[in-house]
Amino acid sequence: MTTRDPLIPDERVDALRIATPPGWEAVALADLHATMSDHAHAEKKAALAGLSLLNAEPERDDLVARMAKLAREEIRHLDQVLGHMRARGWSLRPDRADRFARALIAERRGGRGEAALCDRLLVAALIEARSWERLNLLGMALAEAGEDELAAFYVELARSEAGHYRVFVDLAASECPGEDVAARLGELAEVEAAVIAALPHEPRIH
Ligand SMILES: [Fe+2]
Ligand SMILES: [Fe+2]
Repeated sequence: MTTRDPLIPDERVDALRIATPPGWEAVALADLHATMSDHAHAEKKAALAGLSLLNAEPERDDLVARMAKLAREEIRHLDQVLGHMRARGWSLRPDRADRFARALIAERRGGRGEAALCDRLLVAALIEARSWERLNLLGMALAEAGEDELAAFYVELARSEAGHYRVFVDLAASECPGEDVAARLGELAEVEAAVIAALPHEPRIH
């Protein structure tokens, strides 16, 4: 496993156990159309997941308000990625199965209680955290390739995903007072690191 540091540290993201193994960004850049199409779908799925959580927990006022705002931001990201793709003459491709997210979702405790809600929030947090790291890596690689405008877009987007990580971790703490949120986040972060270490490098966000 690699131990390289994320290129742009963000004090809000404290959960990731490992950095992406070297070489991913070269693969992502080599088929940027595929990477950006996958990224667009990732933003779409983030918006849908936020709305699904809102739908499942209608009486948690703070959660509902935060998910409405998050979904709006993810839809804006989707719109922006599609705009950058359109500028290059690139269409959206079909959504592909997301092994990374699926592996994390499989770790969530089930049922309708606080434990299930806690895991749902913390898995969402970890997906945001990894997105933050990957978008930063992509932004830095784009800058090196002379794609300054797109690089700036990705670095700005990464900052937004770091904020989303914080939203989900804070919600887990406030909505699940009976759970040891820090301990559970640590457990799930270990799983996330193992999943990331095992994934092949592909032209997709994760
Ligand atoms: Fe986003
Ligand atoms: Fe996000």
